[in-house]
Amino acid sequence: MSTLDDKPYIIDEPNKFKVHRSVFVKPEILEQEKRKIFHKCWLYIGHVSEVKNHGDFQTRLVGGKPLIFTRGADGVVRAFFNTCTHRGTLVCRERRGSAKTFRCFYHAWQFNSCGDLIAVPGEEAYGKNFDRSQFRLREVPRLDHYKGFYFVNFDENAESLYDYLAGAKEYLDIIVDQSPTGELEIIQGTQEYDMVANWKLLCENSFDDYHVAPTHITYLEYLKDSGVDVSIPKGLLMPKHGIGKSLGNGHAVIDNHTYRGRPIARWMPIYGEEAKEEIAEIRKELVERLGEERAYRAADTNRNLLIFPNLVINDGSSVTVRTFYPTDENRMRVIAFAIGPIGESETARARRLDSFLTFYGPGGFATPDDVEALEVLQQGISETYREVEWSDLSRGLAKPPEEEQLNTDEPHLRAFWREWNRIMTTE
Ligand code: FES
Ligand SMILES: [Fe+2]
Repeated sequence: MSTLDDKPYIIDEPNKFKVHRSVFVKPEILEQEKRKIFHKCWLYIGHVSEVKNHGDFQTRLVGGKPLIFTRGADGVVRAFFNTCTHRGTLVCRERRGSAKTFRCFYHAWQFNSCGDLIAVPGEEAYGKNFDRSQFRLREVPRLDHYKGFYFVNFDENAESLYDYLAGAKEYLDIIVDQSPTGELEIIQGTQEYDMVANWKLLCENSFDDYHVAPTHITYLEYLKDSGVDVSIPKGLLMPKHGIGKSLGNGHAVIDNHTYRGRPIARWMPIYGEEAKEEIAEIRKELVERLGEERAYRAADTNRNLLIFPNLVINDGSSVTVRTFYPTDENRMRVIAFAIGPIGESETARARRLDSFLTFYGPGGFATPDDVEALEVLQQGISETYREVEWSDLSRGLAKPPEEEQLNTDEPHLRAFWREWNRIMTTE
């Protein structure tokens, strides 16, 4: 499959890795992505805590499709297409809530929380053979979860979610481990924003540690001023504090020793002296429950995880669950949630939310810089991709195999692109 004058989407050779810039620009590429990626891959829809009680629902755009994520009166979690089986109106126009029934706004057909059509005004006009069961709300073909993280798949024949998640499961496990009971909850208060950039740029950016030092200099200086050691060893662009790796099926991660602190277990001055004791206690609980080694993973390292194609979990100074989808070839909608252990103290929760806003929040230290970077990138390539065709993602490629791939190298970005390319070039 070609992009422009029979050019491949990517060049993947020893010592060379390039992505053709037309893939960020051309509407035909997005059309193919919808068909081949967003209709075939497992896409994150929500967390079990968001549909805790019978009747709870969340309406979401998943891969651009309006869905209702809900727990029925029978206790079963389902995902429905949010479209009336009569003529197509959004059946539910609320963002979230709890409901016994969904009543369509247009002609008032009414569905119960399990999707059954239960009331039709003037039903007799349809004749005696009218069969309500033919008009159930349509369920998404596949819905499954891993430890409470729910995903949908629009392809009936897709492989199991368990297999699909491959090595990413281990990283979800570390997040679940941070809860003394193993139970997590999405904390109310969603971040939602648009970027005028292609969605794949955010896949890259979400774990591109090469950009951190230059793009986020304001934040690094703020940390330094508050007494955090962010020193950069001689000769390295970033401290050698992490690695990048592929987790299979296009999922990938950066796994770093944290210098940013973690309000769940690693104190730093910006949390304030009064937080020291509680953070030490949280850490102690982790060590007792998980052992030193596992507690170190939870407390002293941080990870940015990309679950192909469009779920990012930043398990850093807080835990941010972020998903995004293209609304156009050069535009995306981002939605992000904070997640944390059920039952954590009010002060721990407050620190978590503060961290959620401080770095990754749309008005925080990182996201405005990232939005600017990606929008300026999109502006840079949109009208020039025919003349300046290739973007480079070759950091770390020249290293011998026995040498570790760092977080500032790009094996994780290449993992995303190899899977993207595989899917896009397979019929
Ligand atoms: S479109 Fe929903 S009742 Fe007519
Ligand atoms: Fe960034």
